[in-house]
Amino acid sequence: MKPSLSVLGLALVSCTLALENGLMRTPPMGWLAWERYRCNVDCKQDPKNCISEKLFTEMADRLASDGWRELGYTYVNIDDCWMARTRDTAGRLIPDPERFPSGIKALADYVHSLGLKLGIYGDLGIFTCGGYPGTTLDQVEEDALTFAEWGVDMLKLDGCYSTEEEQAQGYPKMAVALNATGRPIAYSCSWPAYRGGLPPKVNYTLLANICNLWRNYGDIQDSWDSVLSIVDWFSANQDVLQLAAGPGHWNDPDMLIIGNFGLSYEQSRSQMALWTMMAAPLFMSTDLRTLPQSTKQILQNRLMIKINQDPLGIQGRRILKEKSRIEVFLRPLSDSANALVFFSRRTYMPFRYTTSLAKLNFTDNALYEAQDVYSGGIISGLKADANFTVILNPSGVVMWYLYPTMYLDQPTSFVNQQKRNDFYPFSL
Ligand code: GLA
Repeated sequence: MKPSLSVLGLALVSCTLALENGLMRTPPMGWLAWERYRCNVDCKQDPKNCISEKLFTEMADRLASDGWRELGYTYVNIDDCWMARTRDTAGRLIPDPERFPSGIKALADYVHSLGLKLGIYGDLGIFTCGGYPGTTLDQVEEDALTFAEWGVDMLKLDGCYSTEEEQAQGYPKMAVALNATGRPIAYSCSWPAYRGGLPPKVNYTLLANICNLWRNYGDIQDSWDSVLSIVDWFSANQDVLQLAAGPGHWNDPDMLIIGNFGLSYEQSRSQMALWTMMAAPLFMSTDLRTLPQSTKQILQNRLMIKINQDPLGIQGRRILKEKSRIEVFLRPLSDSANALVFFSRRTYMPFRYTTSLAKLNFTDNALYEAQDVYSGGIISGLKADANFTVILNPSGVVMWYLYPTMYLDQPTSFVNQQKRNDFYPFSL
């Protein structure tokens, strides 16, 4: 049968829609200004913390000097409020001349000279959420070209001040426009967050074709309540969301707020573990110039990052919610490994949680070994039906990297004999 014209037409549309930029095969990592620095444009009163080229160059310096870049934290991302209040006379977006006197191209060149990448923010609509010039449908191509000329490596396209129809046209249009520039520019779409994050309003198959990542849900704030509301929403909708994620296209539960004011030490460890289980982008939004060592250790935990960056790119799930307010999360990893997170939502005293791998649906034909992601400790010779106990602090986690060491039906075939990671005592 000959394909009909309309079938050909559809095929053509899907070809032109495809992002095909080969970027972000694992979740992106880096730094993003918004949660910590918001729309602070008061460089007179607050020169260290206002949205300016100084802030981004200083964060880039820290990423390059303090071990972040080598671990994969390579994006330095500008958010809202970088622009001048109006476009230039030719209709192009321009940065605020006082706060970015050298311009974005110079900033991109500097960031690149450090082996890092620069991200920028735009908004599909009349204005950005902060009231700066937006990108209307007729300006999509022009703005894509401007970003490419500046040497930008990533675009977060927000969705304030646009209608449902404009978003349905504009987000795919920007994907095509970015591709057409010839510069690989990773594309973060806020579209689903503006449409409730769920089908049928959100088409995750289409999104995976046009965006490298997308915000699904509301903005993170500097509080534990905010982290919990995000974890709850992502867990409640994991059947949809797990399938949407994969190499090149990720759900984005929003920034890491570790290092700011709202989270305790335990809660910081929990956010890091839970974001890793969600295969989430790891964008820190904190002051890297003043980060205490204990916080840095959470964010720089190498086994954690290895799990976050697992090449299979399978998003994890909450597999158990106990009456005791303990929750268990599981993420399948490459080489027959899994990550397990035991998470306490309890609010008093460390809790002894006893379970077994069999109760967590592991097969009993293997012997397992686990490496505790935060302590580095090894737990060997785990049989699926043997009980074990983890001690969970209030709002804290225990996280395991778990792998079979021997299949009991083939006792001579040792698998993963030396899988334990050489990452410790790095973060002990
Ligand atoms: C929206 C986005 C945030 C941030 C602000 C900027 O609220 O969801 O992540 O970009 O706009 O104004």
